[in-house]
Formats: sequence, C-alpha cells, structure tokens
Amino acid sequence: MRIFVTGATGFIGSTIVQELIGAGHQVLGLARSDAGAASLAAAGAEVHRGSLEDLESLRTGAASADGVIHTAFIHDFLNYTAAAETDKRAIATLGAALAGSDRPMIVTSGTLLLQRQGPLATEDDAIDSNFPRKSEDALLEISSRAHVSVLRLPPSVHGDGDHGFVPRLIAIAREKGVSAYVGDGQNRWPAVHRLDAAHLYRLVMEKGSAGAHYHAVADEGVPFKEIAGVIGRRLNVPVVSKSPVDAADHFGWIGHFASIDSPASSAHTQERLGWRPTQCSLIADLDRPSYFEVEQK
Ligand SMILES: NC(=O)c1ccc[n+]([C@@H]2O[C@H](COP(=O)([O-])OP(=O)(O)OC[C@H]3O[C@@H](n4cnc5c(N)ncnc54)[C@H](OP(=O)(O)O)[C@@H]3O)[C@@H](O)[C@H]2O)c1
Repeated sequence: MRIFVTGATGFIGSTIVQELIGAGHQVLGLARSDAGAASLAAAGAEVHRGSLEDLESLRTGAASADGVIHTAFIHDFLNYTAAAETDKRAIATLGAALAGSDRPMIVTSGTLLLQRQGPLATEDDAIDSNFPRKSEDALLEISSRAHVSVLRLPPSVHGDGDHGFVPRLIAIAREKGVSAYVGDGQNRWPAVHRLDAAHLYRLVMEKGSAGAHYHAVADEGVPFKEIAGVIGRRLNVPVVSKSPVDAADHFGWIGHFASIDSPASSAHTQERLGWRPTQCSLIADLDRPSYFEVEQK
C-alpha cells in the first residue's frame, strides 16, 4: 500500500514510517520543514510538503494514497483548544478526501480520558466529552462516508527519543529537587513501547475494521508512585507525596494528568488483530541511564 502519514517526522510517526517500509509498504510522509523532509527521505519515504494548517496539502496527500495514518498534533498545551480545533479540521479534510472509497484511515486518540465503565477502560468506552481534543468526534462525523478507525495511545509511549509526559516528569523532578506523586500515588497510567505501538498501526492499516477502536496498551496500569520512584532513585532526589492542591503548583500543566487513574486494556485489540506487545515495560525502559542522560524537552 501507499500510505500517507501525518506526523511522519515525530517520535511515534517516524517509528510507524520504519515499520511500514520494513513491511514493504510505500510511505508518503508529511513534512513542514526542510529538516523534516530530509529525515523522511533518509528513512526511505516519499516527502509531501505541507502542514496541518494547509488543508489543501492534506487533501492532496490523502487523495494520492491507498490509506492514511494521522498522528500529527500541535503539542502546545498552553493553547490546547486551538491545537484541538486544528486537529479536527485536519481530520475532516483527510476523511473527505477518502470519502466514498474503502481506503482506510487511522486517527490517533488517547486512553487517558476514557470514561471507564469497569476495572479497566476498554475499546468500547467513550472519551470524556469535556476534553478539548475531539479527534474521535471528528471521526464520527466522517465515519458514514469513509473507512476510518481510531487507535488510542496510552499517556506514556516510551522508548529512545521519548519527549512525552515521562521526560517532562524527569525535568520537573530535576528542577524541583524532588520526585513527586499525588496522594498515595496509586493512580495508574497505561503504557506501551513505541515499537509495539508502530506495529499496531500497521496491523490496523492492513486489516482493521471500519468504525473500530483499538488500544495500543501493553502495561495496563503502572502506579504513578512507581514511575516517581524510579525517577527519584535515578536522580538521587527524595520521592514525595503532594496534595492535589500542591500538585498543580509542582507539576504545572501536567498536574491534571499526574493524578488521573486510567488503567486500560487492549484485550479486544489483541483478540481482533493478533497484536502482541513484545517490548519491555515502561518501568524497565525508564530504569535505564539513557532516560536521564540529557535534559529532555
Ligand atoms: N508520545 C506519547 O507518549 C503520546 C501519548 C499519547 C498520545 N500521543 C499522540 O500521538 C501522536 C504522535 O505523538 P508524538 O509523540 O509522535 O509527537 P511528536 O514527536 O511531538 O511529533 C508531532 C508530529 O506532528 C508534526 N506537527 C506538529 N505540528 C504540525 C503542523 N502544524 N503541521 C504539520 N505537522 C505538524 C510534527 O512535525 P515536526 O517534526 O515538523 O515538528 C511531528 O511530525 C500525537 O497525536 C500525540 O498527541 C503521544
């Protein structure tokens, strides 16, 4: 297949590009800079210049492909509502370009804000409708006209080059001189290694069902206190509890997420697609010097 990948230069998207090319697919990767274009070309992908704001570039990219994987997102947590609006318009544009065909499209979402009905959030649960990012709503609007599915990522997608929530927690612990958790720290985050996540994107592209939701979850729920514990030990700083009020000050914008208990399952995904995570757990991955060698953004 010839697959148009947005976010192809990102932490997860670049891994998806490698996974797809390794399996014999052709990749058309979206790049908004010369550096991004060069990295995509070096990875063996065809470069499509454009951006999330340039809807025509998204339309032509999708129109020339057999399938679309949408992972690009503007990670500006201080202007999150605007970033979410841009995402919604991008999804509508990509979906419209595929409408009336059976060419598949995967939209990236997250497990963190699922409204869990049982002990673990499942693929059947819905996202909290108060959350500004509406990737799944945008998809609903086009699902009657296009073959679209949702791939939900856990809050930690880990591996070399991680610059997500966990490196942010490391940076905060460095800056504040303590590694913190909220309350008793028993709230849980699911996690997945980026190679396992990339493999799942490929399986969904190759054999996913229209309208289905898939979970790239390997660790169903890592207690936040364990994450804080490894960070504290590696940085040689105390591991401390913060009250919910103090957590907002300590963690900044990430404070809300630091206290969320959101264990999730991928049982349906594994059953339907035969996906099996094979990489190391978040704690094993985090407990390596490389996570602590450089100050990560
Ligand atoms: N990493 C995680 O732990 C995690 C967890 C849950 C969900 N997610 C979601 O997974 C997806 C991929 O995340 P990631 O960690 O790979 O993100 P990332 O490394 O920050 O990469 C973001 C990608 O989006 C592109 N992008 C940003 N703004 C753009 C714009 N205005 N126009 C075109 N492209 C733009 C970036 O291009 P440049 O290279 O040009 O900047 C890059 O390719 C996102 O939807 C993210 O929210 C990630």
